[in-house]
Amino acid sequence: MKALVTATDGDSGVRLDSVAEPELLPGQAVVAVSAVAVNRGELSLTAHLPPGSRLGWDVAGTVVHAAADGRGPAVGTRVLGLADRDGWAERVALDTGRLAKLPVSLDWPAAAALPVAGLTALYALQRAGRLLGRTVLVTGAGGGVGRVAVQLASAAGARVIAWVGSADRAQGLDGLGADVVDLYGAKHTEPVDILLDSCGGEVLSQAFRAVVPGGTVVSFGNTAGAELRLPADWGRARPGVSLHYLHLFDEITRHDVAGDLAFLVQLVVENRLDPQVARVADWTDPAPALRGLKDRQVNGKVVLVL
Ligand SMILES: NC(=O)c1ccc[n+]([C@@H]2O[C@H](COP(=O)([O-])OP(=O)(O)OC[C@H]3O[C@@H](n4cnc5c(N)ncnc54)[C@H](OP(=O)(O)O)[C@@H]3O)[C@@H](O)[C@H]2O)c1
Repeated sequence: MKALVTATDGDSGVRLDSVAEPELLPGQAVVAVSAVAVNRGELSLTAHLPPGSRLGWDVAGTVVHAAADGRGPAVGTRVLGLADRDGWAERVALDTGRLAKLPVSLDWPAAAALPVAGLTALYALQRAGRLLGRTVLVTGAGGGVGRVAVQLASAAGARVIAWVGSADRAQGLDGLGADVVDLYGAKHTEPVDILLDSCGGEVLSQAFRAVVPGGTVVSFGNTAGAELRLPADWGRARPGVSLHYLHLFDEITRHDVAGDLAFLVQLVVENRLDPQVARVADWTDPAPALRGLKDRQVNGKVVLVL
């Protein structure tokens, strides 16, 4: 079968190659993949993994081989799921605990966009605790995770402040529930109870100053790739602030992932969550879409269809 693997030739960092069929472990089903999403994390990996390495966490497709233990969806079921970095392929074996059924009303790109971005935003907000009536600041709000976090926080009753890098990146955020959209704190003066940061560097440092004593900071990325630097009075000025780092593949060990994926699907079906698919490309020609994401020109998710 074919899969997208890391490559040093060409400008996309990936190429289609022949790889072995998935090996089915107990508790896994094989899915024929129809669409996969691209995360910034995968873009980073293309530069760090040896050529020929497999990629891909987000998949949507159809079960072609049900799990031998009888659990999980039957053959023919449309599903979305979270793969172990081998999902950008024609077929992938997925733990049934990381799969959820898809209604026909949800198309492949919308489904593929959900797992990593949706679960990361959901778990980051759950770390923050109560949201009703609280103020949440989301940095990198124009990106894949950020756009879901804005929607979930708003739906949970929070006042949402969205920080983005430019006016272009702000597109649609007010309609998704952002009460304030700001250019990385250019005008920001409002204290916040909760900070969700994926930018790191100066943005985190700046955003941290807005957190109230006793507030919660959940960091789940360092897109800037800079050293973490907090204000010199970081603790004294904000006693009781808790600082968390969330890593999705660590976090999922403590969650009902299948149930949480089903929850996200249900929100989409009920028009309470938009997965924000911004660009769909054929997986045989992924370079322009990958470049767009890397260059911060995609307001949401890039999805590759097979
Ligand atoms: N820990 C985990 O398990 C986990 C899970 C998912 C994602 N992540 C990380 O979270 C971050 C966001 O992921 P994503 O998939 O939402 O990415 P994305 O769609 O590319 O969004 C990233 C956002 O970061 C902003 N940004 C700030 N500084 C940047 C810089 N120096 N270069 C590029 N973008 C910059 C961009 O917005 P502006 O152009 O508006 O500044 C963009 O909206 C990434 O770092 C990713 O690796 C971590």
